[in-house]
Amino acid sequence: MIIIINRDFFSFCIKLFLGIFLISFQHNSLFSQKQKNELDAIIKEWAAPDDFPDHVILSATKDPSTSIGINWRTEPTNKVGFVEIAIAGDGPRFGRKKIRQYAKRSFLNTEGSNLDGFESSYFEVKIEGLKPNTLYAYRVGNTKFKSEWHQFKTSNNKESPISFLYVGDAQNYILSLWSRVIRKAYKVAPDADFFIHAGDLVDKAHSESEWNEWFAAGNFIHSEIPAIAVPGNHEYQRTEIEQKGDGRILSLQWQPQFSLPKNGPKSLEETCYYVDYPNLRIIALNSNVKIKLQAKWLRKILAENEKKWTVVTYHHPVFSASTGRDNTELRQYWKPLFDQYQVDLALQGHDHTYARGAVYENPNQLDRDGKSKIVKGPVYVVSVSGAKMYSINEKGWDEFGAKREKAGEQIQLFQHISIDGDLLKYKSFTPTGRLFDSFQILKDDGKNKLNNHF
Ligand SMILES: [Fe+2]
Repeated sequence: MIIIINRDFFSFCIKLFLGIFLISFQHNSLFSQKQKNELDAIIKEWAAPDDFPDHVILSATKDPSTSIGINWRTEPTNKVGFVEIAIAGDGPRFGRKKIRQYAKRSFLNTEGSNLDGFESSYFEVKIEGLKPNTLYAYRVGNTKFKSEWHQFKTSNNKESPISFLYVGDAQNYILSLWSRVIRKAYKVAPDADFFIHAGDLVDKAHSESEWNEWFAAGNFIHSEIPAIAVPGNHEYQRTEIEQKGDGRILSLQWQPQFSLPKNGPKSLEETCYYVDYPNLRIIALNSNVKIKLQAKWLRKILAENEKKWTVVTYHHPVFSASTGRDNTELRQYWKPLFDQYQVDLALQGHDHTYARGAVYENPNQLDRDGKSKIVKGPVYVVSVSGAKMYSINEKGWDEFGAKREKAGEQIQLFQHISIDGDLLKYKSFTPTGRLFDSFQILKDDGKNKLNNHF
């Protein structure tokens, strides 16, 4: 048989082969095991700590008007670290009045817990006795290696306007695509009092490279706006060496890298807690474990709460936004308490779509102002900031007696919420800065009046 190969056909075959090779190369599928190992080693080296402090982050404490939590990490042989802090001044000599406070150091070895694991030193300082409503500058490190001076402001100790940012799951493509969300959020509200991360900050709980992406994406924003973070299901995973067991455990990095309050139930330290501002109590719940136990604690914390505004945050939604997902236990144990004690806002994640709504006293009746309706319990929000997207459940929340007012899919979002006296304003933005959703709640004669068209 004679095969005649036409020159064009030959050229076509070469191009086809090259095209397939390039696409496969981009998708990693043609990498040899050796090449994959080399790539993993480069990423691991990128994520590893060195002499200079990195992952510098502020955590909100129970009383942010007088205290702050500061954490960072370095290479593992470094055993001493401290924070230097002073009231920030206009000139460069403000540091002359600095105070030094030595850190508690913890050694963390994540080798064997994830493929990219290694050893690190983590440092933690809780600074107390600060002046309210004051701009401080601080740096972290040791005698040889120090960070730059960062600035943060303590909250007021008297009732005054307050604002904060909130995001749902960062989780995937954190450095490549979540970075633009957190950076735009900072541009919209650079003076936000704190930043809520409602779970699934990363995809693999113990992955050093994913946490490094999270810190690289947020960079100095983490060092200057205190975090209020709760773990999602992706922060609870088995370690590599325990693949066969049932032991999902909290991300090994969580407690070493945050200084969140330990005022919640025992065994849930830094995952279930509350933070008080003069006119606002933020209650962070861990929706992964011990739901009934937390309900008992939540009842006590809500019953004794005298703040005008109450916001709860946790990962799994009370009313799901996406198809095929439901969290009945939260509706059974937490929602009745939210209703009984008139929680104002529930900030959630997990569903990789956007949904916002509430239960109304009378869904068909407008208030005397002609634009508001009375809500019973919180306004519920599900939001996503990272790049993984699911489909919205078209059915809405009617079967639960709730009305979903706004839904979205295939959209990355962050939220800016501000409170001034009896008025709460909520705005949800895309990473391009487009306003996607907004509402306001007015406290009037013991009722929450929700205006969906603000
Ligand atoms: Fe999740």
